[in-house]
Amino acid sequence: MSRSYDHGGNIFTVARTLGVPPDQILDFSASINPLGISPMARSALISSIDSLMHYPDTSHAVLKQALAAYHRLSPACFTIANGSTELIYNLPAMLPGKKALIISPSFSEYVRALRQHQWDVEHFVLSPENNFTIDTDKLEPVLAGGVDLLFFCNPGNPNGMLYPNEVIDRVATLCRAAGTFLVLDEAFMDFCEEGSAKQAVVESSGAMILRSMTKFFGIPGLRLGYAISNSALAERLDALGGPWSVNTLALAAGTAALQDARHNNESLEYVSHERDELQAGLQRFSQFKIYPSNVNYLLVEIAAGMTSRELKELLLPHGILIRDCASFTGLSGQFFRVAVRSAADNKRLLDCLGSIFAR
Ligand SMILES: Cc1ncc(COP(=O)(O)O)c(C=O)c1O
Repeated sequence: MSRSYDHGGNIFTVARTLGVPPDQILDFSASINPLGISPMARSALISSIDSLMHYPDTSHAVLKQALAAYHRLSPACFTIANGSTELIYNLPAMLPGKKALIISPSFSEYVRALRQHQWDVEHFVLSPENNFTIDTDKLEPVLAGGVDLLFFCNPGNPNGMLYPNEVIDRVATLCRAAGTFLVLDEAFMDFCEEGSAKQAVVESSGAMILRSMTKFFGIPGLRLGYAISNSALAERLDALGGPWSVNTLALAAGTAALQDARHNNESLEYVSHERDELQAGLQRFSQFKIYPSNVNYLLVEIAAGMTSRELKELLLPHGILIRDCASFTGLSGQFFRVAVRSAADNKRLLDCLGSIFAR
């Protein structure tokens, strides 16, 4: 049976279908730093080639040191993985309980991972009409009704919103009171200068943060992610991964990427500027409603008359791939997501949209 996943970024399949090389696809469906991999990480990758004749360092000590410096936390707070998806798949085996709640719409792998471990899954759906804000007064009785595990993605994906610290604190307090383990997925937090709940989480035995290094650091093909938690939880989570799921190249590139302050600052500035430009360009289409975003992607709602699936099909012959969001729990077939890419790529998207809607 073939492996079928509903995600952005499957350019290889799309390119095969269109009969073009993958590098001819402008991929707006996966949200990756448009400045790409850092120069320091690139050099680290090249100079690590000869180390490939050894097994990877299973302690991940060097990367943990770099993370400790980047976050100003102890190295013992980190669990390194082959992308944060590996952690999403390992967590349900580590945690006691049976019933999970997901703040939705959100990343589809939570459901898949939980179901593989026989968890029951329910959704607490946030509505676009309320700009995806969370009514914690409504969440409270749901948690109190017996939820063992809550997944909450901040900044939200696909909505792009950074939830304020007060909201996260309130959700954490409700989880504590209800005995619910809280998993905060901060996969896109590096795109916001601050907002992480890391300080509170390392002091808690009932919460954990997941971070991805594939998005901001631009290495989805290499795979790297980590968890932040207290050291006891980190040890338990680490024991679930196989010994060599994180390879030598990923460890070297991740360490160097964290230290490349120049590239990281440039990325923040570039994405912030291009996001504003792309948002302004999209706003010129009367058919679109654009949701406010703090990260490197924008969620757009199309007025009745065309679905996101139809728009995706119309853009494909131009070599442009967008994320049709119809498969997200809580979203209709009127939503699509676009990544913030380079100024030239964003202009090409806007030009193509212009030609489609001028018809
Ligand atoms: C919200 C969210 N969390 C986690 C992930 C997994 O990221 P990775 O496994 O590449 O680190 C993704 C990937 O798209 C995501 O969107």
